[in-house]
Amino acid sequence: MCVETPRVEGAIDAVRARSEHVLAGWLNRQGGTCVSLDDAISYSVLGTGKRLRPVLVYLAGRALGADDDALDAPAAAIEMIHAYSLVHDDLPAMDDDDLRRGRPTVHRAFDEPLAILAGDALQTLAFEALASRPHPRLGAMVTTLARAAGRDGMAAGQAIDLGAVGAPMDLAALQAMHQHKTGALIRAAVRLGALGAVDESDPRVAALDRYASAMGLAFQIHDDVLDVTGDTQTLGKTSGADARRDKPTYPALLGVAQAQNRARDLLNDALDSLEPLGEASQPLAALARFMIDRDH
Ligand code: IPE
Ligand code: IPE
Ligand code: MG
Ligand code: MG
Ligand code: MG
Repeated sequence: MCVETPRVEGAIDAVRARSEHVLAGWLNRQGGTCVSLDDAISYSVLGTGKRLRPVLVYLAGRALGADDDALDAPAAAIEMIHAYSLVHDDLPAMDDDDLRRGRPTVHRAFDEPLAILAGDALQTLAFEALASRPHPRLGAMVTTLARAAGRDGMAAGQAIDLGAVGAPMDLAALQAMHQHKTGALIRAAVRLGALGAVDESDPRVAALDRYASAMGLAFQIHDDVLDVTGDTQTLGKTSGADARRDKPTYPALLGVAQAQNRARDLLNDALDSLEPLGEASQPLAALARFMIDRDH
């Protein structure tokens, strides 16, 4: 996944595999009430996602000393919320995309009602998964996830995004939109991991939050850049879609080179934020580099 030391790369691959396994445990089942809905839900989550958000849960939690067992539920939960956000993001009423993770989007492979319902069911399944394991800070975890997904988080960012199509947007507004639609879940992933280990008053939680804020924005800037510079096959989603729809993006406002510079500056801020965590934060540093060097 990353060009890093084999030890760090191995640790990231191992937690990614662990999150795949935990997700599969929630999704592969027989005898549900509606087989086609179960199939649409599994299709939405399983497949070739990068699993960045669950990996962030594990790496942030491990950096502060949490056991992986305490991180399985929040890691699965955040990926379910993310998958739901992608299914709805691709709907005709939103970005109207036909390709996701290298295959037809959920409303294309199934139909629009099932895509809407799969997203709805994934959102509640995320909270069922999160609550499935007792944890002393479960209440704070539920609040973190709910706020990040909801009216002041991802959903707000998506509403701003869709309302802004074709309208001029300045840099401050664009940054705020990206921080909501994408940054909120990335911050939540890191906070959920941290809460797996310590109370939110621990100063390392604030350091991790600075890391996550910077990387949440950098990640969406890089997504915007890839839409311009990437090809459909590598991306697994249709390239050039943002410009065709007149979406407000960093490359549209600043050009590709300036957008890449901004992402690189944010990476450096994120790496600086990790300093108080010392050696334990190396995998998070490696993942941050990957987040803005990736080609898909
Ligand atoms: C895509 O997220 C949507 C954004 C928030 C930019 P990812 O690039 O993490 O998508 P997957 O999960 O790997 O498919
Ligand atoms: C998506 O942003 C953010 C979400 C909350 C899903 P984009 O619309 O840019 O994501 P892609 O490019 O379709 O993956
Ligand atoms: Mg979108
Ligand atoms: Mg989209
Ligand atoms: Mg995009």
